[in-house]
Amino acid sequence: MERTFIMVKPNGVARGLVGEIVARFERRGFVLRGMKALRIDRALAERHYAEHVGKPFFESLAAFITSGPVVAMVWEGREAVTVARAMMGVTDSAQAAPGTIRGDYSLSKEENVVHGSDSPESAAREIALFFDEAELV
Ligand code: RTP
Ligand code: MG
Repeated sequence: MERTFIMVKPNGVARGLVGEIVARFERRGFVLRGMKALRIDRALAERHYAEHVGKPFFESLAAFITSGPVVAMVWEGREAVTVARAMMGVTDSAQAAPGTIRGDYSLSKEENVVHGSDSPESAAREIALFFDEAELV
């Protein structure tokens, strides 16, 4: 079984979409291994989005992701990384297919409601960044 890191971004939390997003992963058959609400600070934003530091959109991405509470989750299941990315839809919500999370709840490229790991290696790195082993069941 594979694990992936999923996070409801600040606009998803502010809009009351946490339950909707959790329900989709539950119904798909994933098992919840960890979940918490937190406020990301600048240092954590730079570590989480390390591959984007220095890109033209990073400052606005960092401002957005630190703008309010997020909900961080670890979901486990078969091919979790790939399946979760398919459920989320592509980065630019305007291009995300209807039926995906971004395709149903966002029109924005940047404020796209949800984050999901893009590889098993990213998932392991991100899970370790947000959770202590004792916080995972
Ligand atoms: P995420 O990491 O948040 O799950 O999103 P992603 O894999 O679909 O997209 P990624 O390329 O990793 O970009 C991370 C986040 O940066 C913002 N972004 N803005 N203005 C732009 O051109 C641009 N490109 C990316 C988005 O918020 C994206 O989710
Ligand atoms: Mg990404």
